[in-house]
Amino acid sequence: MVLLKNINELKVWCASQKSIGFVPTMGALHAGHLSLVKAATLQSETVLVSIFVNPTQFDEVEDLENYPNTLDDDLTLLKASGVSAVFLPDFDQLYPDDYRYQLSENDFSMALCGAHRPGHFDGVLTVVMKLFNLVKPAKAFFGEKDYQQLRLIRGMVKAFFLDVEVVPCPIIREKDGLAMSSRNMRLSKKEREIAPQLFKIISSGQSIERMQKMIEAAGFELDYLTTQGDRLLVAATLGEIRLIDNVPYNNLRTLKKPVELRSVETCPSKPSNVE
Ligand code: PAF
Repeated sequence: MVLLKNINELKVWCASQKSIGFVPTMGALHAGHLSLVKAATLQSETVLVSIFVNPTQFDEVEDLENYPNTLDDDLTLLKASGVSAVFLPDFDQLYPDDYRYQLSENDFSMALCGAHRPGHFDGVLTVVMKLFNLVKPAKAFFGEKDYQQLRLIRGMVKAFFLDVEVVPCPIIREKDGLAMSSRNMRLSKKEREIAPQLFKIISSGQSIERMQKMIEAAGFELDYLTTQGDRLLVAATLGEIRLIDNVPYNNLRTLKKPVELRSVETCPSKPSNVE
């Protein structure tokens, strides 16, 4: 596995590859990230993962400062997963303009998580555009857990005629149903016990009003619980930690089919339809 520490090394490496499957991350890797890597290795000749904790998408300094750094473990996991190369840029390389130039979307990015986190999606879209321009991947892999992010990245690719296929990958959950997230490691023991309730409640098939009450009664501070297309999306805070999740909504209401708990091993190699 090659480590690419600057843009020059990245460009030389990318130029020698036929077709790149790209997995952008902020590190602190867990089984959810590894499912993206697995999908990328099954669908691409070579796989490049980037690890960059992007400061422009953090609306709270504290959140950025507390973001876990597990680089050594991340590299061990990526090597074992058959990744070809890892790009490890720093802020000065990715933002030579010091973020004077920004990419923004002025509709959907303001709703849901964007309403609670001003500027968050501008930071995400800007860094993903920079990474796409540098890597020029054939395919890029994103998790359905960050459903709004996935929709916005797909929208950006369409709006700017980018020649990359965005591949959505299903949510990977802990055995108790909690959607995997790097933030989960910041939950206290008590909060970790309560956290799986969020998924249980949104999969319960109750009315939205009833589910709102159940989420609050379980001890969460609810930010939103709403439908978008065929998804039911939720964001709620437990102590200091904001959790997001989503489940297919129509299936749930009409078929009453339980949402499947996926592990990395059962993650399909073919993209599912997210839109
Ligand atoms: O989903 C993430 O980890 C980040 O938002 C991304 C896409 C790597 C951009 O920094």
